[in-house]
Amino acid sequence: MSDLKKKKILIVQGSSRSDGNTNKVVQFLRNEIEADLLDLNTKNIGPFDYEFKNQDDDFLPIIKDIADSYDLIVFATPVYWYSMSGLMKNFFDRISDCLKIEKPTGRKLRGKSMALLICGSEAAETPGFDIPFKLSAEYLGMNYRGYVHTWVDEEISDDVKQRVKEFADKLVA
Ligand SMILES: Cc1cc2nc3c(=O)[nH]c(=O)nc-3n(C[C@H](O)[C@H](O)[C@H](O)COP(=O)(O)O)c2cc1C
Repeated sequence: MSDLKKKKILIVQGSSRSDGNTNKVVQFLRNEIEADLLDLNTKNIGPFDYEFKNQDDDFLPIIKDIADSYDLIVFATPVYWYSMSGLMKNFFDRISDCLKIEKPTGRKLRGKSMALLICGSEAAETPGFDIPFKLSAEYLGMNYRGYVHTWVDEEISDDVKQRVKEFADKLVA
């Protein structure tokens, strides 16, 4: 029997609608790989606050659970104004809590892997969209595993399905 530990994967979905286009692609990805789903749209996560006034919201229990339980985190965000969604940006800003008031959790993120699923409205990509994810991974000592750009036009096209399959293969390789 193989003694290789199976990677535990979490998809963090940052769309402003739980069952929108991003979710359609996320569900397709979940048919390809075994992954849990965290829907930020159902959570109460406030913006970063220098006085940590939001520390009793949903963020700290969630990031502690991620740090304790998962090896690979796939961030799935729609393209809103050429950038990640506000929900996703709040989540990233709040990771700063782990550099100030929750340092042990921040340290546990080191060595984990991060990847990105982008869902826009067309095949054309927003230049540099993934740079904040790549640089954040580097800053946090995480391994950046790349991104897949997708779009949904009512249904997921064969082109997008193929991209997501290749992305999935790469993630579990
Ligand atoms: C607030 C907002 C801003 C958007 N900005 C862009 C954009 O800059 N570029 C783009 O290609 N699509 C943009 N779109 C379209 C969405 O990226 C696209 O419809 C996406 O599939 C929506 O995913 P969702 O259903 O998970 O929200 C925008 C949509 C919204 C609601």
